[in-house]
Amino acid sequence: MKKPLINTVVIIGVGLIGGSFALALKKAALVERVIGIDLDSKNLELALKLGIIDEASNSLVAGLNQANLVFIAVPACSIPDLIKRIISHIPLGCIITDAGSVKSELVNVCESLMPPGIHFVGGHPIAGTEHSGAAAAFATLYHNRRCILTPTATTDQDALNIVTALWQAAGSSVEYMDSLAHDRIFAAVSHLPHMVAFALVHAVDRSAEEEENIMAFSAGGFRDFTRIASSDPLMWRDIALMNREALLDMLDRYSMEFNNLRDRIASSDSDWLEDFFKTSKRLRDGIS
Ligand SMILES: NC(=O)c1ccc[n+]([C@@H]2O[C@H](COP(=O)([O-])OP(=O)(O)OC[C@H]3O[C@@H](n4cnc5c(N)ncnc54)[C@H](O)[C@@H]3O)[C@@H](O)[C@H]2O)c1
Repeated sequence: MKKPLINTVVIIGVGLIGGSFALALKKAALVERVIGIDLDSKNLELALKLGIIDEASNSLVAGLNQANLVFIAVPACSIPDLIKRIISHIPLGCIITDAGSVKSELVNVCESLMPPGIHFVGGHPIAGTEHSGAAAAFATLYHNRRCILTPTATTDQDALNIVTALWQAAGSSVEYMDSLAHDRIFAAVSHLPHMVAFALVHAVDRSAEEEENIMAFSAGGFRDFTRIASSDPLMWRDIALMNREALLDMLDRYSMEFNNLRDRIASSDSDWLEDFFKTSKRLRDGIS
């Protein structure tokens, strides 16, 4: 049997993302032992029962002193505080990496918290479902998905190579990206659509005050479009706050488009509407 790449991986936040990473590394036989840490002891028990982790720890510091790699998969806003609390228990040579969906502010803060000899690599797997917790984790979540890593000028090359190899072994193709560019891109293609879905559910629900049972008539369009509105509220609170500038910029652009569309409907501008929908269809059909 080949020697595992990592002896001890500590997963902090054994939910969909952390649990799936643990399962993927185990499946690829790249890790000897996985220790799980989670605020929710029931979730941790379940992770143990499902074989996602080999050992569970309700205490933040237990197990950390043996870690070769720490994978942090808790809501993004909590990550800096968490690192402050654990950093003195992390052995020299350890790699800390994360899965936070927002990178720029997070990477700056996390890097500033690393003492010499402990290496931080920012990451964001482009994979997920609208489900949460260890029960939602599965080993193939990252198959044929991208994982963005956001190295900086100070990122340790060996640490970056190891994190890259782990994500590749989990089935992902790894891309390196500047963290600010990452946040602008994901504000457009992920964060804005989620905000639109959240707002749409509210708008339709408010109409229910006038039209009873309106939700009972919701069919394909509304259901497909709003599936992502049932994503984890804490995670999305953190993303909205941590990617505020890029997201506000995208919301402003969207509002302009939307107000224009509204005005054209109000003025029954048939040609413009047809042209607008044709262009939308062409752009959407062009996405592979
Ligand atoms: N779900 C997605 O689609 C997705 C995709 C990419 C990245 N991410 C990122 O991954 C991270 C985790 O997301 P998830 O979907 O796995 O969430 P999740 O709710 O499934 O899991 C998070 C786990 O962290 C635990 N937790 C929360 N705060 C903690 C703390 N301070 N200390 C220890 N444990 C704590 C929770 O109890 C929970 O079990 C987030 O930063 C999110 O932005 C999520």
